Amino acid sequence: MPSNAPVGIFDSGVGGISVLAEARKLLPTEHFIYYGDTLHAPYGTKSREEVLNLSEAAFDILRYHGCKAIVIACNTATAAAASYLRQKWSDFPIIAMEPALKPASLLRHGGNVIVLATPMTLRLEKFARLMELYGEGAIPVACPGLPEIVEDLDFSNAEIYLNDILQPYLKQTLDAVVLGCTHYVFLRSILKEILPPVTQIVDGNYGTARQLERVLKQRNLCNNQIESGTCILTSSSQDPEAIDKMKKLLAFAEKNIQ
Ligand code: DGL
Repeated sequence: MPSNAPVGIFDSGVGGISVLAEARKLLPTEHFIYYGDTLHAPYGTKSREEVLNLSEAAFDILRYHGCKAIVIACNTATAAAASYLRQKWSDFPIIAMEPALKPASLLRHGGNVIVLATPMTLRLEKFARLMELYGEGAIPVACPGLPEIVEDLDFSNAEIYLNDILQPYLKQTLDAVVLGCTHYVFLRSILKEILPPVTQIVDGNYGTARQLERVLKQRNLCNNQIESGTCILTSSSQDPEAIDKMKKLLAFAEKNIQ
């Protein structure tokens, strides 16, 4: 695989754009192809089998475009499909995501850690293993419907949703809130308003970009040429608005959430 081939990144929709923003910042000479499966978002309330098939289809599209490495910028798709894809493509670099419970556990001072994620991420065995290792004081809170609100860029509804769902925990000491779904990263500033100032908000995006960098270096796959670029694709190919929305969110993420 040539080192000037692109890096592929996919998610069910716009969420992984927040990971793309982080990866572009850390690896400015890389080419990126982002694939948002907007036609099938959200993933988190589907069956595991459906998400596995959709993730494999997204993965195959990025491979077809000649990607040298693929980032699963989706905690849900990782939980449903990462081990299957890694088994099937054992020599191919696959970077995956999980809720950042490990770094959040280091921020704990005897209070609680809330893990916001999709119902599927919290239901599958990958998360159970994470909880066994780092779950002391952690409270998983599923947020069905929240990715759709982000897909619609409906931030006032997101505020109402988060206020309601977090209300029962606000009287306890909250050391950290983990954003265990890449869509929620766009809600950071809303969460800051709702949560006490001492509560840290943690996501896995920087860690994922760093892991991508490590993997590319280990395999001698870093692009050393100067020109770089980003291409955005979606499964709603008939809908030019989907791509415009992603471009807007990419600009927003690069300005506000890193
Ligand atoms: N952004 C995704 C995640 O990190 C999935 C959201 C969804 O499609 O339900 O889990």
